[in-house]
Amino acid sequence: MDVTPDEFPTSAYIGGAWVTSKDRFAVINPATGRDIASVPNLTAEDARRAIDAASAALPAWSAKTAKERAAVLRRWYELILGESEALAQLMTAEQGKPLAESRGEVAYGASFVEWFAEEGKRAYGRTIPTTASTKRYITIKQPIGVVAAITPWNFPIAMITRKVAPALAAGCTIIVKPAEDTPLCALALAKLAEKAGVPAGVLNVVTTQDARGVGQALCADGRVRKLTFTGSTEVGKILYRQCADTVKKLTLELGGNAPLIIFDDANLEQAVAGAMASKYRNAGQTCVCANRILVQAGIYDRFASALAAAAEKLVVGPGASTGVNLGPLINAEAIAKVESLMADAVQKGGTVKTGGAKDAAGSLFYKPTVLTGVTADMDIVSQEIFGPVAALIKFETDDEAIALANSTPFGLAAYLFSQNIHRAWTAAEKLEAGMVGVNEGIFSNEVVPFGGVKESGLGREGAAEGLDEYLETKFICLGGM
Ligand code: SIN
Repeated sequence: MDVTPDEFPTSAYIGGAWVTSKDRFAVINPATGRDIASVPNLTAEDARRAIDAASAALPAWSAKTAKERAAVLRRWYELILGESEALAQLMTAEQGKPLAESRGEVAYGASFVEWFAEEGKRAYGRTIPTTASTKRYITIKQPIGVVAAITPWNFPIAMITRKVAPALAAGCTIIVKPAEDTPLCALALAKLAEKAGVPAGVLNVVTTQDARGVGQALCADGRVRKLTFTGSTEVGKILYRQCADTVKKLTLELGGNAPLIIFDDANLEQAVAGAMASKYRNAGQTCVCANRILVQAGIYDRFASALAAAAEKLVVGPGASTGVNLGPLINAEAIAKVESLMADAVQKGGTVKTGGAKDAAGSLFYKPTVLTGVTADMDIVSQEIFGPVAALIKFETDDEAIALANSTPFGLAAYLFSQNIHRAWTAAEKLEAGMVGVNEGIFSNEVVPFGGVKESGLGREGAAEGLDEYLETKFICLGGM
């Protein structure tokens, strides 16, 4: 096996070379607190070398046919699947999520590579009916150029392939700066890409703790024509500003504050299953996790009790242990944030129905929690929790629910549960969100467009829209006819 948890690349990857550095930083297993490896702490200068490499590789890669690029991507996809178990174990070791979720993420991540390998062949232009008999109008799609990707720790494989696969399929070259908490999966992916035949310089991985310096270098360089970022709205706004001087195209997948609405006529079992899936996936550390659970008065008590009973069944522990459903949070800052949000909510009148404290499994583990009596003045309502706390707010009317749901600057995901198709459709239309799950708590996959409105971001990933993000439309006017 090329990649195993004991034997994986721990050098950065620039221009087809594995790059070391005296300055290194530790990668820590959040379940145990122990170092599992160290990787190079590269600098802004190294990032510029990666841009040199990506720029040098661009002409040859973009000149290949979509079919030729697809063949390379297809090999990468197969190699990722071939190493599924090793990658899943590596992910659990550096990120903490339960092995079952890591296995799911490897398949999810690989699916973007397969999908975009095919979709790259369909980067069609148009012929447009002319307005003058001497002219003909045509559009063609061309790769945007060198891309920079800044990726998060919560999905260490899928958030990379969701960006790299469409970029490469479109004919772009790319520099990835993975999150400092989870660089190992990024390097393992690069190793498999190299083996698949991705040419030197087409994919580069810059590991660093200097997110600010490297981010600035990527944003400031005019050769980088596109930045794609998944992370907080706060950092996304900084990057947005930094990209203004070189007028880069941007995809920003930023924070969310997802409402999950349970109407009185919801199927209780379905609603609990949906809320569990949406809330406790990755220990609550996804941008699309239900952040505010709005429950209509007629079903509130039954729903709260059923949700608490389901949450109590979750097994908390190290992700590598059999049967575990809920792993640790990523670091001490994450657990401190959950504790502070809980303290504020309880102090303002919230009631802990279950959980509400750290778990004995270790310093970064938090019990699956259900909090009732949540009100709009609590910080937990306006901030992204990023932890396993279900915050239940009671509402009376449909209009009140929609108003509450939309009363946030964010607009990534929203969910609703109702058996009434008219009510569900009306609510789905009124919700200010890029994605709406109706009677469904999980909807992400490679064939649908993922992304938000308002301060949750710009652009879409996955689906045909996800390829377009890496393409420019060129209009050609053929005159003298
Ligand atoms: C995210 O949290 O940003 C990604 C979640 C997903 O792809 O479903």
